[in-house]
Amino acid sequence: MQKKSFYITTPIYYPSDKLHIGHSYTTVAADAMARFKRLTGHQAYFLTGTDEHGQKIERRAQEAGKEPQEFVDEIVDWIKKLWTVLDISYDDFIRTTEQRHKDSVQKIFTKFYEQGDIYKSKYEGWYCTPCEAFWTERQVEEGNCPDCKRPVELVAEESYFFKMSKYADRLIEHIENNPEFIQPASRKNEMINNFLKPGLEDLCVSRTTFKWGIPVPFDPDHVIYVWLDALSNYITALGYLSEDDSKMKAFWPADVQLIGKEIVRFHTIYWPIFLMALGLELPKQVFGHGWLLLEEGKMSKSKGNVIDPEVLVERYGSDAIRYFLLREIPFGADGHFSEEALIQRLNFDLANDLGNLLNRTLAMLNKYYQGKVPTPSLDEAIDEELKSMALDLPQKMTERMDQLLFSNALSELWKFIARANKYIDETAPWTLAKEGNQQRLATVMYNLLESIRIVSVLLLPFMPRTPERIWQQLGIAHEGKIHTWDSIQEFGALPAGAQTKAAEVLFPRLELTAEGGGPVRQATKKDKPAPAPKEDKKKMAEKDGLITIDDFARVDLRIAEVKTAEKVEGADKLLKLTVSLGEQERQVVAGIAQHYGPETLTGKQVLFVANLKPVKLRGIRSEGMLLAASDSEGKLVLVGPQDSIAAGSKVK
Ligand code: MSP
Repeated sequence: MQKKSFYITTPIYYPSDKLHIGHSYTTVAADAMARFKRLTGHQAYFLTGTDEHGQKIERRAQEAGKEPQEFVDEIVDWIKKLWTVLDISYDDFIRTTEQRHKDSVQKIFTKFYEQGDIYKSKYEGWYCTPCEAFWTERQVEEGNCPDCKRPVELVAEESYFFKMSKYADRLIEHIENNPEFIQPASRKNEMINNFLKPGLEDLCVSRTTFKWGIPVPFDPDHVIYVWLDALSNYITALGYLSEDDSKMKAFWPADVQLIGKEIVRFHTIYWPIFLMALGLELPKQVFGHGWLLLEEGKMSKSKGNVIDPEVLVERYGSDAIRYFLLREIPFGADGHFSEEALIQRLNFDLANDLGNLLNRTLAMLNKYYQGKVPTPSLDEAIDEELKSMALDLPQKMTERMDQLLFSNALSELWKFIARANKYIDETAPWTLAKEGNQQRLATVMYNLLESIRIVSVLLLPFMPRTPERIWQQLGIAHEGKIHTWDSIQEFGALPAGAQTKAAEVLFPRLELTAEGGGPVRQATKKDKPAPAPKEDKKKMAEKDGLITIDDFARVDLRIAEVKTAEKVEGADKLLKLTVSLGEQERQVVAGIAQHYGPETLTGKQVLFVANLKPVKLRGIRSEGMLLAASDSEGKLVLVGPQDSIAAGSKVK
């Protein structure tokens, strides 16, 4: 049976500077989607590339004292290397300076001209060079670009114009009739109300005051407007109007075009109108994702190392960075990036949840079965919940991915990881071993290992390197047929008898050495893989997930009373609180804003960890932690004393 095709694109990047971590966001998301589609049996085609012409690049090259081509070549090489480092599995990388692209764009321009969509006139108006965008007098905001807020320039030159208004009504109709075309829906309303309804002006599609672009074939003093040149990449890469347009036939229309929110206008007004004029179908969906911001605002190269994707990958590894980008921020919304937030995510989700599941399971397997996968033989009711959750996962994650809900897809997977960790505590394999309940012990251990295998397969699109490391440890690295989507449709594909390896730490726990974002982290002692079994009581307790009373006594648990609470600007989940511990007050930042309004908290008594090392969250110092319980449905409640007691009372 022929595989269903799936065409996904990212914007093509300006090689005017090295890219920052925000730029990587679109590409990592597109890559996760392409990999997910491949895993689920589609023939995915994933396109990215570089947008190399235009006045901005020409000026940047001049500033650098280089020819434009030489200038972009170096940066494009760097961009390609970055994508390799981030494991971006693109099928094609198009450069707008390639001959195949230039030929096709010239044919497109000629076609427009010959069919009467383009005419020659004179442009007088405003231009934003950083955005490469024309603006009308009405749109300009006090001499600045309404998008990037930088100064616009007055331009007066002979130009070719495209008759946008001719297609406006058809476009409005298409947008209204196809609600999935522009996503998220809020961006659709913005386009209709702010740009389409007020009426479209004809678009200037050539320039004469600089040279760095594709010449208009029949009037070479003009270069083609860079957005017409750039947007065409999505079809020129498929061979549109070339001798071999087989890819065009196989993949157009695109299934999803991912872009950042500031270029939605170009992709949902200009682009569909050009496509209509060419008589081509429109992409099924254009998704405008939010921005990755810093506390101080927008990212820019001046922010240095903190946002350099190469540096971040070197420090944390590409899978960790990919995980953070996909998990931390709901795809349509803006979100914040900081190394503190990154480290928290990595410690909680990767080192603790995922890492512990693997480590605890393998350490017990080593001890009880010399590392060999046992044959399950005695099912109990408690196993069913784990198994049915595992079997529902592929479908649940597919549904989330089809809506580009990367973060939700991952949280489904992590709910299962949490369930498997809980299964260890519930089944207490160490007790089964002590009681000599071999049949049950073998079943529990098998179920855990099989759960880990299922998790590893589902991780593939998001963290392409980690599954291989898990398979190495499970001793199934060469068993390709149980790394597939088909193999996770049943629970039990892991062969009994496989010889696992000693547990290795997948993700070390990390800490920032300098408060507020120092660059160097060190693995803590907890990073060491679970120790080989010894009949030492303390060690045995550690290995079985138990702690001693001395361990517990190290946590200074107190009753805290909330004095003030307020929202943290720009963070949906966080509240800033001051709490009293009797003789002293503490400031804490707690992730409870979606469960408690600040006004409901004053006077509440809450369990509090008083000797936690302070950290900064969103730039605010947090000196302790409120304790809360949460269930698998996402409900969260603060935990406090049954009766009122003096603030600062010790809990033991
Ligand atoms: N060259 C144009 C696109 C032409 S597509 C026919 C362009 N290039 S860009 O290099 O400036 O941006 C490429 C992508 O990176 C855009 O989707 C943009 O939204 C995205 N991002 C740039 N900074 C970003 C963040 N800080 N956060 C998230 N995405 C960001 O625009």
